Amino acid sequence: MLLDLLDQARRAAAHAYAPYSNHPVGAAVLTTTGEVFTGCNVENAAYGETICAERGAVMAMVAAGFRDIEAVAVSGPDGPCWPCGSCRQVLHEFGCRRVLVDDHEVDFADLLPHAFRL
Ligand code: THU
Repeated sequence: MLLDLLDQARRAAAHAYAPYSNHPVGAAVLTTTGEVFTGCNVENAAYGETICAERGAVMAMVAAGFRDIEAVAVSGPDGPCWPCGSCRQVLHEFGCRRVLVDDHEVDFADLLPHAFRL
């Protein structure tokens, strides 16, 4: 199941719009009830408007009515592509438990210890 999630992240990366960085990224989130949502990075000429793959996947999940993340898989073009700090915070909001990046599988809490929560 989790290997399949990584494969879905890889396939989502093929849709990335990354003409500025040439760094296509794909992400797939698995909900606690078994649904999968994917995202890819979408860049913009105004660089700061870029949206990461992970956040794209989370937005799709929430828009479809789901809020609990079991795991996220991320795939980049060259070597392990760990979620950036902003994406970690957004993944934390929805309870992400596990993270898969290439052949690494880690607890989310190890990526964002002492996470901010209201
Ligand atoms: N990027 C992601 O999609 N996810 C991350 O967690 C880190 C960075 C994207 C943003 C940008 O389009 C490209 O990778 C280079 O920073």
